[in-house]
Amino acid sequence: MTLPPRTPLTPRAPLTPRAATPAPPRPARPAAPARPTVGTASLKADDFTALCELVRSLCGVDLLQYKRNQMERRVRTWTERRGTPDLAEYGKILRKDSEELDAFLDRVTINVSHLWRHEDQFDVLRKQILPQLAERKRLKIWSAGSSYGAEAYTIAAVARETIPNIPVEIVGTDLDKRMVARAREGYFTAEDARTSPKALLTKHFEPRPEGGWQAKPELKRMVRFENGDLLRMAVPSARYDVVFCRNTVIYFTEEVRDALHERLVKALSPGGYLVVGTSERVSDPKGLGLTSPFHFIYQKS
Ligand SMILES: C[S@@+](CC[C@H](N)C(=O)[O-])C[C@H]1O[C@@H](n2cnc3c(N)ncnc32)[C@H](O)[C@@H]1O
Repeated sequence: MTLPPRTPLTPRAPLTPRAATPAPPRPARPAAPARPTVGTASLKADDFTALCELVRSLCGVDLLQYKRNQMERRVRTWTERRGTPDLAEYGKILRKDSEELDAFLDRVTINVSHLWRHEDQFDVLRKQILPQLAERKRLKIWSAGSSYGAEAYTIAAVARETIPNIPVEIVGTDLDKRMVARAREGYFTAEDARTSPKALLTKHFEPRPEGGWQAKPELKRMVRFENGDLLRMAVPSARYDVVFCRNTVIYFTEEVRDALHERLVKALSPGGYLVVGTSERVSDPKGLGLTSPFHFIYQKS
């Protein structure tokens, strides 16, 4: 199977304001890598952790889940560009200024997505997975790390094409409340539709007068979006027939990634499928009771 190269990061559309709500309690996290204990590096490292804790308390987004080097570089480059390289000082600004918090999150979190992203995987969904699962009469699919919904709406369109008479419910979950709000709108830019098969796009989405595409009501009825932290929320056992978790774990530490995969497999019913991103893998598929019948797609025994 040939898959397209990874999509470069693109700027996002303007976001709706986000309420600063207190974050839920945190479960135990895998041990953090050892940090230097002397000199400026240790001070900086402490500053960084403190800023991450503050951001989590302000909006629930946990930057400590990401690979530290990449995230710290991203944060420090941003704060330097904003003229406040001292992270403690920058934290004071974030506390007071919700617009600055939005701008900061836009820069440091990674919500990139688009319709029909990695189209080959949707071909496998259409040709192999959905026809096979259709005997279950009713399907539940989870888009774990759904961002602004492009993946969930693509799944909905593919399901309508493939198994129009089977009820399919698609649940999207994302940590970022702003993305969940956008996903509920079902609006996509022309850039979001750049790799979409034209015939399917025009059949399931309506062009908007101002540009971009709006998911048709039939698709909107199939999808539901919720705010949640995949690593902390209660995961129902054996609820889903297919779980998509693509491009959500790539920036996570290996421990966090493995813990998340384990939870997602728990949420799958026997015979169900886990679809991961095309640069990702489950580190111990056998240990989790998975086989891999297709590239980047696992099946639970
Ligand atoms: C790069 S987007 C991927 C969107 C979509 N799955 C795709 O492949 O196009 C990753 C999303 O995962 C979300 N995310 C990251 N950590 C999360 C967590 N612990 N719980 C829920 N969502 C998370 C981010 O907010 C972001 O919207």
